[in-house]
Amino acid sequence: MTPQRPLAQTLSSPAYASDGAAARHLLGAESAERMAEEFGAAARMAARSIAGAAGPTTGPGPAALRARLDAVDLRTPLGSTEAALEEATELYLRDAVYFHHPRYAAHLNCPVAVPAVVAEALVTTVNTSMDTWDQSAGATLIEQRLIDWAADLAELGPEADGVFTSGGTASNMQAMLLARNAAVAGAPGSLPERLAGLRIYASADSHFSISTSASLLGMGADAVVAIPVDSMHRMDATALERALADDRAAGLRALAIVATAGTTDFGAIDPLPALGALAAAYGAWFHVDAAYGCGLLASPRHRGMLSGIENANSVTVDFHKSFFQPIGSSAILVRDKSSLGLVSHHAEYLNPAAEAGRVPNQVDKSLATTRRFDALKLWVTLRSIGGQAIGEMFDSVMELAAEAGDMVQDHPELELAAPVQLSTVVFRYVPAGRDGDGAVESLANVIRKALYESGEAMVAATTVNGVRHLKLTLLNPQTAPRDVAEILDAVVAHGRRLSGERAASEVNA
Ligand SMILES: Cc1ncc(COP(=O)(O)O)c(C=O)c1O
Repeated sequence: MTPQRPLAQTLSSPAYASDGAAARHLLGAESAERMAEEFGAAARMAARSIAGAAGPTTGPGPAALRARLDAVDLRTPLGSTEAALEEATELYLRDAVYFHHPRYAAHLNCPVAVPAVVAEALVTTVNTSMDTWDQSAGATLIEQRLIDWAADLAELGPEADGVFTSGGTASNMQAMLLARNAAVAGAPGSLPERLAGLRIYASADSHFSISTSASLLGMGADAVVAIPVDSMHRMDATALERALADDRAAGLRALAIVATAGTTDFGAIDPLPALGALAAAYGAWFHVDAAYGCGLLASPRHRGMLSGIENANSVTVDFHKSFFQPIGSSAILVRDKSSLGLVSHHAEYLNPAAEAGRVPNQVDKSLATTRRFDALKLWVTLRSIGGQAIGEMFDSVMELAAEAGDMVQDHPELELAAPVQLSTVVFRYVPAGRDGDGAVESLANVIRKALYESGEAMVAATTVNGVRHLKLTLLNPQTAPRDVAEILDAVVAHGRRLSGERAASEVNA
């Protein structure tokens, strides 16, 4: 029998797509240099937009932007990356919301560290997937080192572990899943039977993702007991203790106690030591949602505010809020690495059970399968500027917020809703002489809208005890007290004008 020739020698065509077909647009050895040039051009466009932004927004409404977008015919490509990027400038960059702008003070968005942004070039071009070692190699070890680093900051102990997720919502969801599975493991009956009577305790100001998680996990949002907060918007530990005792007497069981370390509106930090002790006493999982407050972990001055976090079974940290990282960059940390096994699934084609414990397959710990190498951004940030710089920046926004709180308090037409704790300031505009007048409440919405439409500034709004308030979320260390003063002056100017208009229309009515 004649030996079979190597298959490669039997083929005549070197590549299916060598004659200029669509595959030339894909990243490969031939296109790598072109990619780098185009990347550079895109980076310059982005840099011009960032540097040239006159305000945090141009104040567009959806109708105007939709009309421009509707005019695009997706069946007719423009033929080059350059042309498509120019179009994207019109459709996106020109009217984007710019979080780096000193008068952006709305939601929990931070300006991003330059090394982190630059690292994105590597993340997206190599396009590593974090699910298995054989798709990630060193990336897995880098992620693991950062998890160890973050768990160390939280002092979670030698058995700690964790995994990166897309955001705080996903981290909280995974934490609640781990808690649920730990609570029902080995219990008799069907899952619905085992879930009946389980309760999650979180403060009335906790993030809504806790309730969403309870629903998704088959317990129903009703399983979350909203514990009242004190005047600083921290969970009232005495009220929690009462609820735990009453529920136990009624035959209910504490699945988890969720402490928020940095509530979305007030930056309040629940009393972590007391809540951890109650969790231990009631055999409940202790989760700390530090999506916002995690910046304190790196803080040279305020780390003590998180004292008690070390007792957590799990912790949510959002690097894309308080570590100045691009979205998404979050992690769930756990005190006992074996708890992550509560969600492990082994697929023969991917992470076979036989590899468990031998091969570091991150999918063993994650709810995601294909997953971006989001850890690299933080790694490059740490290796270039260091964790101390991150903590100092978080400290500086806390100082700025404290100063902003003083400005509000000292202004006769502004009323602070609660003392400033992290970097948010919740307040309202009250026209001179109308202090305590319920009719002024809805001014918050119209002032906020007026600020947005003028492009001067962006602030958020929230409701406190049924009254609409404005909120500054200050996460930009580049924002100076003068910027905050300008935002507040604009609030007052719009407030005076709008309350005047309203008063006039009431007289005319
Ligand atoms: C306290 C808290 N937890 C969780 C989240 C959810 O985080 P993400 O938006 O990253 O999903 C937020 C978002 O603002 C938050 O403030």
